Order: sequence, then C-alpha cells, then structure tokens
Amino acid sequence: MEHSQPADPSRRRTLNLLLSGSLVGFLAALVYPLVRYLIPPPASEVPASTVRVAKVEEVAPNTGLIFRFGRRPGLLIRTPDGTLRAFAATCTHLDCTVQFRPDLGLIWCACHNGRYDLTGKVISGPPPRPLTPFVVNVQDGDIYVSQGVS
Ligand code: FES
Repeated sequence: MEHSQPADPSRRRTLNLLLSGSLVGFLAALVYPLVRYLIPPPASEVPASTVRVAKVEEVAPNTGLIFRFGRRPGLLIRTPDGTLRAFAATCTHLDCTVQFRPDLGLIWCACHNGRYDLTGKVISGPPPRPLTPFVVNVQDGDIYVSQGVS
C-alpha cells in the first residue's frame, strides 16, 4: 500500500482559489438577472406632450383608437354624437390597456372587467380612479392630443 504524500500547499491554495472563484461566478449568475429585472432600464425617449393622432375623417362616430403617447398608450374616442375625447389608456387598477367598446358604449378593461363611462369615470369593477384625461384639439383636420395643464 502506498502512503499518500501530504498535499502541496501551493496546489491546495490554487484549488481553493478556483473553487472560490467558481462560487463567486455562480452567485453573480444568480444575482445579476435579478438586479436587471428589478432596476428598469433608462427611458429611451422623452415623454410626449403633444401627438398628432389621426385625421378627423379617420375616426368615425362611436369608435375608438389606441395611439402611442410617449411610452404609454392613449385612447382617442369619438362618441356617437361626434365628440372627441382622449385618455391615458392605462387602467387605474393594475395598468392593463383599456379599449373602447362600441357595443357597450363604454371604455372597458379586459383584465378584470373594469368599466369606465365615456368621460373616463369608473362605472364598475376594481379601478379605483377615473382615467387620466388628455386635451384634444383639431387643427386643419388633424387631431392633436396633449397632456394639458395640470
Ligand atoms: S387592470 Fe383594469 S380592471 Fe384590473
């Protein structure tokens, strides 16, 4: 039977270094995606203050149109009597995108059946607040939506 030689201290040190390096790499691989998930990336564009949405003749009475307002969706509706209104299309419950429902004559959130009237007030469901209204202006046949003065 052979006697084992005492481990070479420099070899042991090298192995310990490799093992601790692997452990640090493993922990970094676990933590990095979590940190990237929790910290949102920097905004790539400035929020819009006014956007041109459509031509008036493109929005028939009793229809709605989702448009991009900066990084968030907006909702332009034309009521059956022809009035134009616009809102942030983000539900005040859990941020789902709302839509115009011509068959129901209201603004509806599909996530939890939240319902808003055509002025953005909550009719039923879990939304705690009305939709954020935008200002609508028509100029030379174009519909412009802006955040307005707060
Ligand atoms: S997110 Fe709209 S009702 Fe829940």
